[in-house]
Amino acid sequence: MSIAYFNGAYLPLEEVRISPLDRGFLFGDSVYEVIPSYAGEFFLLTEHLERLQRSLAAVRIRNPYDAGAWSALLAELLACNADPATPDLGVYLQVTRGVAPRDHAFPANAQPTILAMVSPIRPLPDRIRTEGVAAITGEDRRWGHCDIKATTLLANVLARQSATEQGAAEAILLRDGQLTEGAASNVLLVLDGQLVTPPLEPSVLPGVTRSRVLDLARELGYPVAERPVSENELAQAAEIWLTSSTREILPVTRLDERAVGGGRPGPVWQAVHTAYQNAKPGAPASEPMQSGGAV
Ligand SMILES: Cc1ncc(COP(=O)(O)O)c(C=O)c1O
Repeated sequence: MSIAYFNGAYLPLEEVRISPLDRGFLFGDSVYEVIPSYAGEFFLLTEHLERLQRSLAAVRIRNPYDAGAWSALLAELLACNADPATPDLGVYLQVTRGVAPRDHAFPANAQPTILAMVSPIRPLPDRIRTEGVAAITGEDRRWGHCDIKATTLLANVLARQSATEQGAAEAILLRDGQLTEGAASNVLLVLDGQLVTPPLEPSVLPGVTRSRVLDLARELGYPVAERPVSENELAQAAEIWLTSSTREILPVTRLDERAVGGGRPGPVWQAVHTAYQNAKPGAPASEPMQSGGAV
């Protein structure tokens, strides 16, 4: 049974009780983070805590802790859940505006509700490493502040469900003919000799993995461009990747039933995926970096 952190206490997840008047439940009035850990050590924790602070500030919820207190609390949560069978854990962390009589306007004195819980991160299955995953495209019907990591995710849920029903791992979203991101991931493409991804705008979550992957690609010598990507360019890409903290870098090899590039995970994905694995805590001593060049 996994242990959760709930409003100051560590307890079995099943024993957590959330009020029906919690604004996270009633309005989706809350923000969240998902933070990966490997072999008991967090990966990119500072970046996740900075984004949490930005999300909280954007919706005007008081951050209950500073970075040091968050780090200690989350380290304790990992220790409570230490299990050699599942060495790699993702921490889901949610902060709501708190419990108050139902009214849309902010309550005067609510205390933020804090929940953190863990789930295993599994290594990439061999089948995906060799064959990749399928994705579909869909209309981006989300609100105008997707740069805030809010729990109000109904449009994302519906998009992912469409993908699941079509046997795909993700829905890649388009707004006015332009790529935004995935239902729960950022999207990167290898296109005309460059690694390309949409710029950070309100329609895109500033993914922590996205940022690390772009840095690794630059270090490997691949040209990187953050610029708008059209639906047509998406269809022409030699490689398409999805990035997120728990799925890491997934190669998309079928988009809307058509093969992407050669229909197999591409060489740039291979190189950047290897660099990402080597950058994670607990990684074995890394191989020398393969040089990149034009892609
Ligand atoms: C909509 C959306 N975009 C992008 C991401 C990737 O963000 P990160 O790499 O920080 O996990 C996520 C992660 O869940 C997401 O939900």
